[in-house]
Amino acid sequence: MSTVIIYSTRHGATRKCAELLKFKLFGAVLADLKENPEFDFSGYDAVIIGGSVQAGSVKRNLKKFCEKNKKELLKKKLGLFICCMYEGREAEEQIKKNFPGELFERACAKDYFGGIFDFNKMNFLERFIIKQAVKVKESVYKIKEERITSFAEKFK
Ligand SMILES: Cc1cc2nc3c(=O)[nH]c(=O)nc-3n(C[C@H](O)[C@H](O)[C@H](O)COP(=O)(O)O)c2cc1C
Repeated sequence: MSTVIIYSTRHGATRKCAELLKFKLFGAVLADLKENPEFDFSGYDAVIIGGSVQAGSVKRNLKKFCEKNKKELLKKKLGLFICCMYEGREAEEQIKKNFPGELFERACAKDYFGGIFDFNKMNFLERFIIKQAVKVKESVYKIKEERITSFAEKFK
């Protein structure tokens, strides 16, 4: 089965998760929406879509891609994930609200993979917001590899 992982990232954490997932799925291909906003997935049997959440929302390019390709995506084996720092119910709600309802219902695997607060990559405003809102002053690495592993198992 040919699989593509299509992702959208701001500071690279989602790419890192997509790479870990690719490794666990053996032979999946990666596609960064920034480099290829019109990525043609028609030749793949399975599509996994992932994006990072900032202020409650994934990037606009990911939202646009899902809306535009909804009909074709519904014909594929589908998986969805987000990178985010919330956990539990809040993280689950962020998955639900960031993908079109039909895709959310259709996906055979959907999960959150944690994330990274990377102070070296944030701009001034982002750093300020995180320091104020989350009260952290240094980078935090919280990618949950065990969730990526169980997502891959479920997806296979
Ligand atoms: C300014 C800012 C706002 C954020 N807002 C949220 C949020 O609303 N919910 C959440 O769960 N995580 C939030 N995060 C954490 C990001 O989802 C996390 O840093 C993620 O790993 C970023 O992934 P990326 O590097 O692929 O963009 C925020 C991070 C930043 C810097």
